[in-house]
Amino acid sequence: MLRLIVPADTIPLIELTAATEYFKPLELVALREVFEDYFKEEFSFGHRCYVETEGDQPLGYVYFAPVPMTEGTWCVYWIAVAKDQQSRGLGTRLIAHVEAEARERNGRLLLIETSSLTRYESTREFYRKRGYSVTSHIPDYYADGDGLVVFCKRL
Ligand SMILES: CC(C)(COP(=O)(O)OP(=O)(O)OC[C@H]1O[C@@H](n2cnc3c(N)ncnc32)[C@H](O)[C@@H]1OP(=O)(O)O)[C@@H](O)C(=O)NCCC(=O)NCCS
Repeated sequence: MLRLIVPADTIPLIELTAATEYFKPLELVALREVFEDYFKEEFSFGHRCYVETEGDQPLGYVYFAPVPMTEGTWCVYWIAVAKDQQSRGLGTRLIAHVEAEARERNGRLLLIETSSLTRYESTREFYRKRGYSVTSHIPDYYADGDGLVVFCKRL
């Protein structure tokens, strides 16, 4: 079932994210802050975070929002699928949901930020296969040798 997250999802989703082994400790700290802010401000800034669940078990989630000071530009800030659930189509369904909801809310462009590290090659391939192309690359953005890659798709 796909639903909006609730505060009780915070710890399970941080654990799911950590268990993918893709994210650095400081990114997991940032994720906790993102969830805390989300539950404080929630819909006032148009942010949305959906989780796919099976029973009580979270399988994957996506966090996205309109970009301030733009007309219809949206960004996916977080997406992760549980390690043992990857490659079964859930990530594709989550991105399709984001695209549909952004379109409904007059979205024109959808951006997705990721890392240039080698271990993210399968993630970048995932975005390319969903019709996204690289619009910018800032070398050494996250750390030396770890650049920012921005994917974009016209909705
Ligand atoms: C990237 C991610 C969200 C994709 O979700 P998913 O449910 O595994 O993706 P889908 O099953 O819909 O699509 C699979 C495709 O994604 C790509 N892919 C990306 N990561 C993959 C992984 N860990 N295992 C298998 N395929 C992966 C492959 O190209 C695959 O292509 P195929 O369908 O032709 O085999 C998920 O793998 C994940 O959480 N990865 C770790 C965290 C991450 O990178 N998050 C994004 C940070 S910017």
